[in-house]
Amino acid sequence: MKGVLVCLLLAVLPYLSLAQEPRRCIVPPQFQTRVAQVDYASNSVNRFLWVYDAVNKRQVVFEELSEFTPGKRFYEYLILANEGIEYKIDLRTRNCTKAPARPWRDIGIPENATFVNEYTLGGPGESIILQEWSDAVPLHHNARRYLAFTLNNCYISHEDILAGGANLTDSISNRFYDFVEGIENPNVFVVPPSCPKSPYHQRQPFTTWP
Ligand SMILES: *[C@@H]1O[C@H](CO)[C@@H](O)[C@H](O)[C@H]1NC(C)=O
Ligand SMILES: *[C@@H]1O[C@H](CO)[C@@H](O)[C@H](O)[C@H]1NC(C)=O
Ligand SMILES: *[C@@H]1O[C@H](CO)[C@@H](O)[C@H](O)[C@H]1NC(C)=O
Repeated sequence: MKGVLVCLLLAVLPYLSLAQEPRRCIVPPQFQTRVAQVDYASNSVNRFLWVYDAVNKRQVVFEELSEFTPGKRFYEYLILANEGIEYKIDLRTRNCTKAPARPWRDIGIPENATFVNEYTLGGPGESIILQEWSDAVPLHHNARRYLAFTLNNCYISHEDILAGGANLTDSISNRFYDFVEGIENPNVFVVPPSCPKSPYHQRQPFTTWP
């Protein structure tokens, strides 16, 4: 099987390098979307509401019910990169924990990524065109990302982050849907009153994603 794959890749490589790379689109700076995240480590599908604001370098993620798990807690992650702080808030008790924020990173086509493919998703009469990019190095199975964006407005459609080596457990896939343009409700970025005085701190940022 592996041998067959390598042969296929070798056959495709010259074609890929000759193909002209399209213009890199720019992702809208402010949007709201839902995310379905397949987490292979915990063998689960998690759903979030994600509000992204690159203008003010802040984002907020609300966990939403996906698979019913008794006793599961749901959290809000409020990430304020300009202030260098993240808050993790228990959506039921409002218990708040602080952590340092990771440096801000705009969502978009990674600088070192190359064009993979353009294709339509859906069926006749209800389709959209996507462009897919990846930072994968041909024939190297190091960590790599595949990202697809809508052709016209550059909304991210899906993202597969494959961990290096053979270890599937560190990989995640994100599917983005139900986009809303702009910031519908700026109040989502208001720091909850339980946060400033909270005694709970964590040294590491809460999440590596988004
Ligand atoms: C609040 O969160 C902190 C840190 O995660 C935890 O140690 C503490 O037990 C929580 N308090 C309550 C009342 O849930
Ligand atoms: C692209 O950059 C990312 C992040 O800096 C890195 O992890 C990845 O290995 C790079 N890929 C290539 C093909 O250089
Ligand atoms: C893959 O990751 C899991 C969990 O982090 C670890 O227990 C396992 O040893 C890893 N396997 C390999 C082949 O690296």
